[in-house]
Amino acid sequence: MEFTLKVIRPSHTKTDCLVIPVSQGRCLTPTALACEQASAGGLQRLLDHGDLGKEAGKSLLIPGLDGIKAKRILVIETGVDVLNDNRFRTLVRSMTQLVGGLAVKDVICALTELNVPGRDEAWILEQTILTLRETRYRIPKETISPEPKLTWITTTLIATPNLTDKVTQQLRGQSQAIANGIDLTRDLGNLPPNRCTPQYLAETAQQLGKDWGLKVKVLDRSAMEKLGMGALLAVSAGSHRPPQFIVMEYMGGKAKSRPLVLVGKGITFDTGGISLKPAPEMDEMKFDMCGAASVLGTMRALAEMKLPLNVVALIPTCENMPGGAATRPGDVVKSLSGQTIEILNTDAEGRLILCDALTYAERFEPTLVVDVATLTGACVIALGHEAAGLLSNDEGLRNELQAAGEYSGDRAWPLPLWEEYQEGLKSNFADLANIAGRAGGTITAATFLSNFTQRYRWAHLDIAGVAWKSGKEKGATGRPVRLFCRFLIEHARASQG
Ligand code: BES
Ligand code: MN
Ligand code: ZN
Repeated sequence: MEFTLKVIRPSHTKTDCLVIPVSQGRCLTPTALACEQASAGGLQRLLDHGDLGKEAGKSLLIPGLDGIKAKRILVIETGVDVLNDNRFRTLVRSMTQLVGGLAVKDVICALTELNVPGRDEAWILEQTILTLRETRYRIPKETISPEPKLTWITTTLIATPNLTDKVTQQLRGQSQAIANGIDLTRDLGNLPPNRCTPQYLAETAQQLGKDWGLKVKVLDRSAMEKLGMGALLAVSAGSHRPPQFIVMEYMGGKAKSRPLVLVGKGITFDTGGISLKPAPEMDEMKFDMCGAASVLGTMRALAEMKLPLNVVALIPTCENMPGGAATRPGDVVKSLSGQTIEILNTDAEGRLILCDALTYAERFEPTLVVDVATLTGACVIALGHEAAGLLSNDEGLRNELQAAGEYSGDRAWPLPLWEEYQEGLKSNFADLANIAGRAGGTITAATFLSNFTQRYRWAHLDIAGVAWKSGKEKGATGRPVRLFCRFLIEHARASQG
């Protein structure tokens, strides 16, 4: 999808479709009022017929109007006088679906003239582009018949005269970069697990390195053995596909400035291992690499945005399979940190691959580390599908991430990390057990990780409830790429002073 952002006189501009919002059947925004004038009151007379309805998202397609150059006018009802974040995004979604059903090539959209209290024009533009791209996304499907080509390819968003052209164009580029990162994350998540293997993720990282000038290194099994990544290796033991440890470096900042490190869980399929999962919905465990995919998507977006930051991505990736060589409940392994772990449940594998990656992160002397993982079913129970779980050993970092989530609409919500929770992870046979009881599963998983993150500021995002959708809408969401990008944009701004 191509976007143009400009200030135009919509009634005098040719287009296949002009989209204008109205509120309770009344023209209020500048474009709607201009159309009202240009049509000598014709627009309002049509609305007065009352066909539109007063509910949010209701629409009326007007096939041309005297005095207005657009071939069609799509009027959309906002439903309320005062919008909020969610209602604004819902409107953009409705408009995208409506326009997607028309045989149009180009669209001029005036939803960007709406006012959302507490949000500025930059937010409106970014959210419009991101929500439109999100709604337009299609899963690359493996079929024998080719997918029909999309006809709608360009969108002109009406920009406000308040923003300079430079700022507007920068916002457009930035939003497109974020959307491209989200698409990559979703594509990777949606691939079947026989295609999206650890090796495929490594190749994707290498390709991103070539395309975007990132430094990429992939450690193979023997390199991991030499380093002593016993926890990661224990998870991959049952699989015939070799594990990979991906290291990517984006150096957009000053050469000496310490990097931020992002760590993503990359289990390309989680059967549970010997602690085998039940059959229903097990296919969804192909999404267990969505943390890794979101880190790759974020790196792509970051490079395209050219943010002045140094960011390292670490992706431990493997399959969790049962088999003759698989790790057993009761096995004790030695992690890269030197701490030993009694593996009581082989289905609690995410924390095992993450803990070695978190120890590896120390070598970059990071200013902060954020890991992201589809870590616990308990997080879905606690927060549902709206917010990621957010746990941190640093209050400031936790607040920054929560704020980035709130701004971007890709929310995360805090849970506590008190030392009392360590009690449940005690083992008679090793330094740590990999599970505690059923209670507080998201917290005890993060508490396990906290034993490997004492040397830096660290936060953990549990995206088990938000990384993909089930049922009819089954597919990856691309979360939390939006949150990460906002977080990084804010960091870049702060470091520029
Ligand atoms: N990948 C799963 C977590 C998960 C399960 C995410 C269902 C989304 C939906 C993770 O590896 C796992 O199996 N966790 C266990 C931990 C338990 C054994 C302590 C879980 O949540 O049941
Ligand atoms: Mn598991
Ligand atoms: Zn898992």
